[in-house]
Amino acid sequence: MKKSLLATGVVLVLGAGFAASAVAQVKPEVLVKQRQAAMTLQGKYLGPIGGMLKGNIPYNADTVAINATFLENLARMPWDGFAESTRGEKSATKPEAFTDAAKFRAAADMLEAETAKLGAAARAKNEAGVRASFGGVAKSCGSCHDAYRVKQ
Ligand code: HEC
Repeated sequence: MKKSLLATGVVLVLGAGFAASAVAQVKPEVLVKQRQAAMTLQGKYLGPIGGMLKGNIPYNADTVAINATFLENLARMPWDGFAESTRGEKSATKPEAFTDAAKFRAAADMLEAETAKLGAAARAKNEAGVRASFGGVAKSCGSCHDAYRVKQ
């Protein structure tokens, strides 16, 4: 009984998504900086994998495993930074990220799912699997940016 209650609590916390209130006390402008930082780090760890797959850098399965694992974890970090409290802040986020919150969340979920596939293949040192899953990750970044990020 106790155990199942605990499990329910975990599901509730994880299911709370954007509403998760670990961020309730954080100043909106700080949340914006933090979400941008998480995005920047995603680029940092995705870039070299792309470079290796294109042949610009020699393929190194150990580096790919590390980068893909960092990326998989980073892919879960930006979203609580898109809190309602940040709506009026200066940033490159389009208002639609808030008005179409469910679709924005779906785009975030897609990235999380695709980076999980990439991470699993990378840790298994499965280069073909890394190649097969990389496109899905890149597409997740790009399609969300097209919809919700002001053109750079
Ligand atoms: C669910 C939507 C979404 C996904 C998925 C997404 N991004 Fe972003 N990204 C955004 C938004 C919105 C911004 C603008 C953030 C802001 O300025 O408030 C952004 C900004 C950025 C920035 C600029 C950060 C800065 O310093 O201003 C980089 C770099 C970036 N994203 C990289 C990535 C990479 C790489 C991926 C995929 C691995 C990715 N993003 C996936 C929505 C997304």
